[in-house]
Amino acid sequence: MRVAIGSDHRGYQIRPRIAEWLREQGYEVIDVGAHSQQPVDYPDIAEAVATKVSQGEVDRGILLCGTGLGMCIAANKVHGVRAVPCHDDLTAEMSRRHNDANVLCLSADLLGERLLFRIVEIWLHTPFEGGRHARRLEKIAAIEDEISREICSEKHEDGGAETPRA
Ligand code: RB5
Repeated sequence: MRVAIGSDHRGYQIRPRIAEWLREQGYEVIDVGAHSQQPVDYPDIAEAVATKVSQGEVDRGILLCGTGLGMCIAANKVHGVRAVPCHDDLTAEMSRRHNDANVLCLSADLLGERLLFRIVEIWLHTPFEGGRHARRLEKIAAIEDEISREICSEKHEDGGAETPRA
C-alpha cells in the first residue's frame, strides 16, 4: 500500500518516526514534510497529501497538526477525499468500516505516542464493510458532484471569468 504523510510544525517530530515505522512495515511512503521546525500553514500540507490521494498517486493519506482538525477541514475540500479526525481505537476502526476514510488526521499535541501508532495501525488494517455504507458514500459523492456542477455552470454563465466580489 502507498501512503502519503504530512504534518505542520506541530507534528514535525513525530511524523518522520511514523513514516519510518510504516516503511519498516513494508508500506511505500511519500513524506511531504514539513521538513523544518519553521511554522507552516497546515492547508498547504493538507492539500499536498489530499491531492495525492485524490489523483490515485497513493492509496491513503495521514496528516498531523496540533489538533488534527485544521488538516481535516482542509483535506476534505479536495475531490474524493474522505478525511477523518481520529483520537482512539474506535474512531480509527469505524472510520474505515463505515466511512471508507482515505485520509487520517491526527493530533500531534493531544495524543500520546503509543496511541498515535496504534491508531495508525488499526486505521491501515481495517477494511471497509461496503453494503449499505457504500450507498451512503455514493450519496456523499453525489453532493460533491452536484457542487462541482454548480461551480462549472456559474463559470460558464460568466464566460469563465472570475466574478469580482465586493
Ligand atoms: C498551528 O498552530 C495549529 O493551529 C495547527 O497545528 C492545527 O492545530 C490546526 O488545526
